[in-house]
Amino acid sequence: MKVLVTGSNGFLGQHLCINLANKGFNVIATSRGSNKIGHLVNTQFQAVDVTKKNEIAHVLHQFKPEVIIHNAAMSKPNECDNNQEACLLQNVTATAYLVEAGKKINSYFIYVSTDFVFGENGPHSEDAAKEPLNFYGKSKLMAEEIVTTSGLKYAIMRPVFIYGKQLANMKGTFLHWVKNSLSNGQKISVVNDQHRTPSYVNDICKGLTTMIEQQVSGDFHLAGKDILTPYQMAVTLANTLQLDASLITPVTSETFVEPVKRAKKSGLKIEKAIRELNYQPVSFEEGVRLSFL
Ligand SMILES: NC(=O)c1ccc[n+]([C@@H]2O[C@H](COP(=O)([O-])OP(=O)(O)OC[C@H]3O[C@@H](n4cnc5c(N)ncnc54)[C@H](OP(=O)(O)O)[C@@H]3O)[C@@H](O)[C@H]2O)c1
Repeated sequence: MKVLVTGSNGFLGQHLCINLANKGFNVIATSRGSNKIGHLVNTQFQAVDVTKKNEIAHVLHQFKPEVIIHNAAMSKPNECDNNQEACLLQNVTATAYLVEAGKKINSYFIYVSTDFVFGENGPHSEDAAKEPLNFYGKSKLMAEEIVTTSGLKYAIMRPVFIYGKQLANMKGTFLHWVKNSLSNGQKISVVNDQHRTPSYVNDICKGLTTMIEQQVSGDFHLAGKDILTPYQMAVTLANTLQLDASLITPVTSETFVEPVKRAKKSGLKIEKAIRELNYQPVSFEEGVRLSFL
């Protein structure tokens, strides 16, 4: 089965292409610029900017993938807020281009969305009210609506606070910053009043693989099973990696001047994925071990 992934150079994109290729899928990895994953079995890389309608039309016509996983995005909430026009182009218009081209070849379309489409009072189930608190969340919700009304066979997958191994050509995540800071003996302040359900990247990839195999329809949350604050995540990481947790100071969100509003209680419920996809995520502690040891 041919699976086209957009944003293959990003954190989830790279892990996803590796997982799918190892599972024997025929992967068409696409991203802006040159390939950062390196050579993979069963995989061809094609440079595609998803904001360029003609590039999308060309690559879909050329490869005719049975499955499209639309993962590329302007994914940093602050950047989206500061560059709203560019955010709309990358997150919304690009999705419309992909849907339009996907309809011509009748692909199964999976959209990678986010917990930021919801507001406060998490963890949220798939049918919770969509009340995005910032422009990034709004743009991802607009893209979801394009997908759900497309007429294509589709699924929406929402992860939250993704973490995992940092591969060779990849920016690190929050946890890499924590590990590097503590390893260098640096004191850090970490917020302790925001709750999340961090998603281990290989769990997401396994869940997405099952979604493809079962061609499921509708919304699915692929997150972790533990509800933690970033401070609790940092302490768990320190204890697991035998680093000095006393270097971490818990602080409130008000400590940092953030241009963008973030939910205090977010996180995603995963019961539907457990039930329908046999999704079995690791604990956060185990995820840290798998990511760093
Ligand atoms: N990270 C999280 O905690 C998190 C949580 C919830 C949902 N998500 C969603 O998960 C997906 C992946 O997130 P991530 O953290 O892996 O993001 P990421 O590391 O920022 O990767 C996104 C990738 O998309 C590419 N991209 C952006 N605009 C593009 C364009 N116009 N054409 C082609 N490629 C483009 C980027 O290219 P460049 O490398 O050139 O910038 C980057 O490689 C996103 O849809 C995000 O909204 C992420």
